Amino acid sequence: MSATKYIHIVDWVMHELDQNRLHSGGKLPSVRSLAIQFQCSKNTVVKALEVLKQRHILYTKEKSGYFVVDDYKKPHMSDVQIDFLSAGPDPAVLPYEDFQHCMNQAIDRYKEQLFTYNDVKGLPSLRNELVCYLQNLQIFTKTDHIVITSGSQQALHILSLMPFPNGKKTILIEQPTYFGMIDVLTLHRIPTIGISLSKHGIDFEELERTFKTGDIKFFYTVPRCHNPLGHHYTNAEKKKIVSLAEKYDVYIVEDDYLGELDTDPKADPLYAHDQNDRVMYVKSFSKVFLPGLRLAAVVLPAELLPSFSQYKFSADFNTSPLTQGALEIYLRNGMFHYHIQRAKEVYATKLSLATDACKTYLPLDVHYTKPVSGFYLTIFLPERVKAERLTCMLAERDVQVADTSRMFLSHNQGEAIRISISQVDQQYISEGIFHIAECIKALQQNATFNPLSLTSKR
Ligand SMILES: Cc1ncc(COP(=O)(O)O)c(C=O)c1O
Repeated sequence: MSATKYIHIVDWVMHELDQNRLHSGGKLPSVRSLAIQFQCSKNTVVKALEVLKQRHILYTKEKSGYFVVDDYKKPHMSDVQIDFLSAGPDPAVLPYEDFQHCMNQAIDRYKEQLFTYNDVKGLPSLRNELVCYLQNLQIFTKTDHIVITSGSQQALHILSLMPFPNGKKTILIEQPTYFGMIDVLTLHRIPTIGISLSKHGIDFEELERTFKTGDIKFFYTVPRCHNPLGHHYTNAEKKKIVSLAEKYDVYIVEDDYLGELDTDPKADPLYAHDQNDRVMYVKSFSKVFLPGLRLAAVVLPAELLPSFSQYKFSADFNTSPLTQGALEIYLRNGMFHYHIQRAKEVYATKLSLATDACKTYLPLDVHYTKPVSGFYLTIFLPERVKAERLTCMLAERDVQVADTSRMFLSHNQGEAIRISISQVDQQYISEGIFHIAECIKALQQNATFNPLSLTSKR
């Protein structure tokens, strides 16, 4: 008997509710008859019904059995847009007013310094402050090794274009990965190889082979809260990546854009395992703070600093000092710490609502990632359900999701959609996922009855 048999029963109950064959207050068939229906033990049935009880869909009456709760309502179509596409921070956690105070204080303190050309590496006072801040993320460095960039996108752009001391040319990326990095690489025709990343991680033998023979300049990785998979490497895996990089003279660009949301206090960045200046650490302040500031910090080995600074200077001389000054004050006052605590709580709640809803509504043959932190998860579509068709169908229901095909180097890597929970109000997460499930089921049925109807749309 499969250990997941109980999920079939959960799914069946949800289906009966959807089809109105079970109603609020209605009694479920007995445990015995469900066990016969599903050819499983009574324990398996009880396990399924208890799961539904925990989700407040069923309740028990002593000696009478399981009933649907009185106020059970199917998620219904609301007149709001449900935006699982945008990946900016939740507007409810953006600290506009606090930051406004910091802007004013920064202008009072630094005056004209914030309105003229500045150090290419960024405001020294912010970089000093970041030395302390980054220690919370297990990044121990010195002011001189930090460069402020106009968003981490600029850092990735510069690192992709500039030469590296190993003289190699090819960039290795996870597949899928952040589409902004793919854009840089394809736009500039930079030789790029992908290594497949799934919810189970990467194949380390393939990684070693590619490091050894692939002329790899650097490996771009998003080691925690991965975009789009929500995947996290273990510390042992991170250590292994760093040691392979050292062995084969490969650099690593570590994009820790959501590091603050990691719920595992023992999780280290790759940088913490690096003894030989192999890792360039990139920390964005967009996703966890205010994307409009366009601020990020890069921690670089001494050898790469002159070239990086030269490329940065040629791009924009320096990042806007005004926002840098305000961020420095925000960090120094300890406000950032409180902001992160709040953001972490908000996203953790939303993510668990999303994974619960996936468990409840998605058909059994639909797999999805179950990240413990971050704000993305990916739903892998069953055979013959096309992401492009699904996203259009969902748009008609005012639900926006991202087709992951843009997040791969080539477009033939299986159909999937990315769900970002950051900008969706908590009360609509479950409803949105209900619609995703309904549309997947409709497309599955359509494909079964008319196999040509889906493929002809592409
Ligand atoms: C993984 C990852 N890295 C970097 C960025 C770029 O962020 P920014 O340039 O705003 O710092 C993003 C934005 O979505 C991202 O998802």
